[in-house]
Amino acid sequence: MTPLEYLNNNKDKFLNELLDLLRIPSVSADQKFDGDVRNAARFVKDRLLAAGVDHAELYETKGHPIVYAEKIVDPTSPTVLVYGHYDVQPADPYELWNHPPFEPTLKDDRIYARGACDDKGQMYMHVKAFETMMATDTLTCNVKFMIEGEEEVGSNSLETFIKEEKGKLSADVILISDTSIINNDTPSITVGLRGLSYLEVEITGPNKDLHSGVYGGAVANPINILTKLIADMQDENGRVTLPGFYDDVLEYSDRERAEMAKAPFDINHYKKELDIQEVKGERGFSTIERVGIRPCLDVNGIWGGYTGPGSKTVLPSKAFAKISTRLVSNQDSDEITQMIIKYFEKKAPKSVKVKVTPHHGGTPAVISTHSNGYKAASEAFKQSWGKTPIPTMEGGSIPIVALFIQELKIEPILMGFGLDSDDIHSPNESYGLFNYYKGIETITYFYNHFFQISNKS
Ligand code: BES
Ligand code: MN
Ligand code: MN
Repeated sequence: MTPLEYLNNNKDKFLNELLDLLRIPSVSADQKFDGDVRNAARFVKDRLLAAGVDHAELYETKGHPIVYAEKIVDPTSPTVLVYGHYDVQPADPYELWNHPPFEPTLKDDRIYARGACDDKGQMYMHVKAFETMMATDTLTCNVKFMIEGEEEVGSNSLETFIKEEKGKLSADVILISDTSIINNDTPSITVGLRGLSYLEVEITGPNKDLHSGVYGGAVANPINILTKLIADMQDENGRVTLPGFYDDVLEYSDRERAEMAKAPFDINHYKKELDIQEVKGERGFSTIERVGIRPCLDVNGIWGGYTGPGSKTVLPSKAFAKISTRLVSNQDSDEITQMIIKYFEKKAPKSVKVKVTPHHGGTPAVISTHSNGYKAASEAFKQSWGKTPIPTMEGGSIPIVALFIQELKIEPILMGFGLDSDDIHSPNESYGLFNYYKGIETITYFYNHFFQISNKS
């Protein structure tokens, strides 16, 4: 039986197993789900064992366990290290879901559930591709699996794991499916991810909430101050005003930008999908560039004062905001974090106190199109899609990818199969069955091409 025949014979089984995994609410950010997070790890480990790995373990950490497994077919053959994550983002707000987020629902050839695409659906394709190659006796490369449960909260434990277990993790390529393709007719390979600096700001005015009539106009309102400070961080050209913010931003040549502009992108469809009249961003750059090669700053949440029903005339004591910047090469996440802390400490008036707490950061990543891994991924897409994939720079972040390069010195290949319209992190996240099955098929081709290309060079 060929791998494709095996895949076609087992479509229902492959789907039902993924649905079982999606029923486990493995939300890494919320302690309430710790037991479920562990159950998801066990599920992945058990399925890997059933598919035929030599051994599999749950590697215990300070946080959630890492699933590690391997199959060595021949020590002299190339080794593929598969990375993915079994944890998911919180499903809130639940009331905006058409079906409960952890009761996966099939509709219009799509799976609706939290994690359907990010990253359970995409990660599980690798488990099923491995099963397919084992069952048809076509696995050419050695495989190591490293599936973590803390990607959505900053990958702290995995960072320690890769620093401590370098020997065990030796490989020729790291294969990751946790990104998107342009659309189902236009395959692409991600060659850039943005980095991240994330902070929380707390502004304190008076030592207690006050009557806004008795004190208003005479005492600093921390919400007024905070919103002004935030607004001042961007100018009318959509640029971040922090001194030095753009100093390390890699500039692209006109030729490179013209190349990037060749990727199909329909701005009207984009606006229609989001129900917006206009896009907005840094002047002088296209939407693809704003997301792929330019940094940005966004408020992720802001609160304070009275937000209940009706009105309450209050001058609040405190105001809060969660702020993130997305970074590009060669910006340094720690330097940007310091820049933002300094900004708030320097610019806030004496009438308030400021506390800034850094959360997780992440280094941007740029991936070469000249490696064996890229060539193998490109050939694999050609074989399954009949089209050469386009290299793309994506706006999201997978901070551990830069660490793979730095610590393990192994080239990561971002061969994702999601779509921007899968609504990852949003209510009604979904993943197309086409993408799930086509992804499994493409992954099996990757192994063959990587084996051949590695042996030639
Ligand atoms: N899979 C995403 C990242 C992603 C999505 C990259 C789409 C490219 C296209 C990942 O799970 C994620 O959500 N990362 C977080 C960062 C993390 C530190 C919370 C992000 O980008 O917000
Ligand atoms: Mn992900
Ligand atoms: Mn995510």
